[in-house]
Amino acid sequence: MTEEFIPKKSYRNTPTGEVSYESPSNIALIKYWGKYGEQLPKNTSLSFTLNNCKTTTRLQYTPIKPETKVGSFHFEVFLDKERKPTFEPKIAQFLTRIEPYLPFVRDYKFVIHTSNSFPHSSGIASSASGMSALALCLLKIEQDMLPGRSQEDFLKKASFIARLGSGSACRSIAGPLVSWGKHDALPGSSAYYGTLYTGAVNAVFSTFQDTILLVDTGKKEVSSSVGHNLMNDHTYAENRFKQADTHINQLLDILRTGDLDAFMALVEQEALTLHAMMMTSRPYFILMKENTLSIINKIWIYRKNTCVPVCFTLDAGANVHVLYPEKYKEKVLKFIKNELAMHCQDGKYICDHTGYGAKSITK
Ligand code: DP6
Repeated sequence: MTEEFIPKKSYRNTPTGEVSYESPSNIALIKYWGKYGEQLPKNTSLSFTLNNCKTTTRLQYTPIKPETKVGSFHFEVFLDKERKPTFEPKIAQFLTRIEPYLPFVRDYKFVIHTSNSFPHSSGIASSASGMSALALCLLKIEQDMLPGRSQEDFLKKASFIARLGSGSACRSIAGPLVSWGKHDALPGSSAYYGTLYTGAVNAVFSTFQDTILLVDTGKKEVSSSVGHNLMNDHTYAENRFKQADTHINQLLDILRTGDLDAFMALVEQEALTLHAMMMTSRPYFILMKENTLSIINKIWIYRKNTCVPVCFTLDAGANVHVLYPEKYKEKVLKFIKNELAMHCQDGKYICDHTGYGAKSITK
């Protein structure tokens, strides 16, 4: 299965150069939580690709002398022009994982310049946007060395490589709806890369809004990787994976019919199940904060009183993603400003909506 991503021909010599991509974050409706082998998901997930929350990465590459090719990889990482040695172990692990599929990574020195459109310490996962942007830059370099590949194969391998950096990153290459994990109801789906969902989607979902309430902008107390691993001998794991597969079938029906009540019930159940898994693992942990719960309660009350179809989802953190149709934007933003912003750190939130995935910005 991974064989198809190993280059069969030798690379054409490429001198020094530079490539740039911007890639968005994504928000899972059906959550990925639990992995095995080399970054393979225990269940299928499906996400909205976002538009405004994105990482821009510029990758400079320079050939290195043959005698320096042994040992560790040669690279430097900068975030907003500032050198970030703390990012290096994750990048080194990524390069080790991808070397069989992009062997040229050994032959070059890379300077990675990255910046996020969202505040650095916002608690928004930058791994999905960051790893997908970096994967695309590397794929673009490979494309110049091995021309002739179709755009479809290029994107498939970009997603495959992004997954090896961070699982959810494989869902950021395309949009607005991307699945990851093999599922009978999703033709062409795979555990190795994300697949753009091309089934029937009601118009209401094509411009869905996601306002991200920044409840806790600190560093996560428990990393996603640690959380995923705790699913390995989790009492409820097998049932959770089965439930996610059933939820995919339900979500596909909802996407087709546009049944917003069913959508809200499913998406909120997924969010709370994700956190229930964290709260019932060993060791157990809680990533929601008091403000997360205050926001959830206020959303429920507002929905009941106004019948506005607004719901929430959560990532592996305390921030709340408020999801609603574009038609209700003005009303919901007023509600957020007046009633929810007070639960956010420094009153901050980010307005986003569904988007179409990563873009080349190479000059
Ligand atoms: C809760 O993709 O960050 O956001 O593969 O270890 O990098 P790694 O994990 P990561 O996990 C994200 C999990 C989630 C749910 C989701 O996006 O599906």
